[in-house]
Amino acid sequence: MQGQQRQQTAGLEEKHKLATRWYHWINFPVLTVMIVSGMFIYWAFDPYRIGVGDFTLIHLFPNWFYDLTHIDRKLAIGMALHFLFAWLFAINGLLYVAYTLFSGEWRELVPDAKCFRQALDVVKHDLGLGPLPPQGRYNAAQRITYTAIVLMGGASLLTGLAIYKPVQIAWLTTLLGGYEWARWEHFWLTMGYIGFFVIHIAQVIRAGWPNLRSMISGYDLAKEKENTGAGRHVA
Ligand code: HEM
Repeated sequence: MQGQQRQQTAGLEEKHKLATRWYHWINFPVLTVMIVSGMFIYWAFDPYRIGVGDFTLIHLFPNWFYDLTHIDRKLAIGMALHFLFAWLFAINGLLYVAYTLFSGEWRELVPDAKCFRQALDVVKHDLGLGPLPPQGRYNAAQRITYTAIVLMGGASLLTGLAIYKPVQIAWLTTLLGGYEWARWEHFWLTMGYIGFFVIHIAQVIRAGWPNLRSMISGYDLAKEKENTGAGRHVA
């Protein structure tokens, strides 16, 4: 297994490749800008609600939210940032996927059939109800989550393109259910990132400093492995 060939240098064990860290840390601010600028666009015209006909039971963002924040006048800056950073998001994402495929690292990332069963054991372990199942670089829950987030990135790119050029690439917009559906899918993918972000940050805090340090430096202290690297995980 590739993980077993990982470099060990004077008590240090290589945990994350430079390329993985590079793409991760580029993606973090870029995705943040995409979420915030996307929400600026949404707040300029927010149609999503639960209701029947003219009757609205719940508006996703009620009027008091806009009265309090005055955030509904940011369409121009939202669109400018969104369409600039979309290039960075797409290039960084495509390079990451190409790197993962060609380096063979996808084997440690993409979940296999037993991951779905083991993911439940990881949840039980997190609740203090059992041992952590054996794992490679990533545990079963991480493999499912990280693969899902990459697929979501691809879906954001496709739905984004579908609403960006609904005439020029009409086949894509039609394939995604038409303009309104593509916009709806694009929006809920964003809500998915926000959910992921909250859990991810909570898990990073829970896993502790050595875990975060290895994502920055690439290395973990070999002697700390049992306490940090292999035993702990980040969602
Ligand atoms: C993870 C990355 C992305 C996130 C989080 C994101 C988020 C959002 C959100 C929340 C909206 C508002 C949706 C609404 O009003 O219903 C939006 C609008 C939009 N996004 Fe994205 N987006 C992303 C990537 C992209 C990409 C790659 C493109 C490609 C060009 C794109 C193109 C658009 C367009 C064209 C709009 C609508 C602008 C308009 O209404 O005039 N997005 N995005």
